[in-house]
Amino acid sequence: MTDQLTLSNALRSETHDLHEVLDKRVMQLNPFADSEHYRGFLRMQLRLHTAAEPLYHNSNLLNLLPDLSGRSRLNAVLADCEDVELNKTLLSEDQRIASYIRIADEHEGIGWLYALEGSTLGAAMLLKHVKNQLNLSETFGASHMAAHSDGRATHWKQFKAMLDQLELTPAQREKAITGATQAFIFVTDAVNDVMIDDAIAS
Ligand code: HEM
Repeated sequence: MTDQLTLSNALRSETHDLHEVLDKRVMQLNPFADSEHYRGFLRMQLRLHTAAEPLYHNSNLLNLLPDLSGRSRLNAVLADCEDVELNKTLLSEDQRIASYIRIADEHEGIGWLYALEGSTLGAAMLLKHVKNQLNLSETFGASHMAAHSDGRATHWKQFKAMLDQLELTPAQREKAITGATQAFIFVTDAVNDVMIDDAIAS
């Protein structure tokens, strides 16, 4: 009965299984095995962050979630792509594919934002791998994984608190769940499209 839960807990519960599949699939593909694998991982992030970028500038969403401004990590993803010299043709292709995404309204947008903001938590663990295996860091090649200056957990709690203060109708809440689900499906498709799969490559 997710209607008894806070919005952030309902989003978590409804996307838990999708997150599990995504997390396992990404790790199975050895994203930090070498620079080529990491470029594939960055392309997946590029698609996700490009698709969601308009939400961070949407005036209705900025009214609903005031601390949204400043949370976008697209520029950091682009800087990381530049640092690891991602091929410009691939970069443009990812931007084009991401631009086809249509997020119906701000309530679906809330769900997408939940997925993007939550992904900063998993980034703590991913950053450790990137540092150890690829010698990249928050200042070169992996800036999109950097913790916020407030601290990763605090920054996430502030976002969840904003979500949980929203007064949504049941239909709007359903839309938020739909949006979060779409974001997870979109990013899982991106993983399968752009990350190197050694089982297929060999
Ligand atoms: C290999 C890739 C990933 C791994 C290993 C991973 C791992 C994790 C871990 C360990 C947490 C929990 C952290 C904590 O509670 O302190 C987490 C949370 C979360 N991750 Fe991921 N993640 C990955 C990719 C992603 C991606 C691409 C997205 C975005 C679509 C995402 C969305 C989320 C969300 C929304 C949460 C917060 C769940 C909640 O509401 O508590 N994750 N992730």
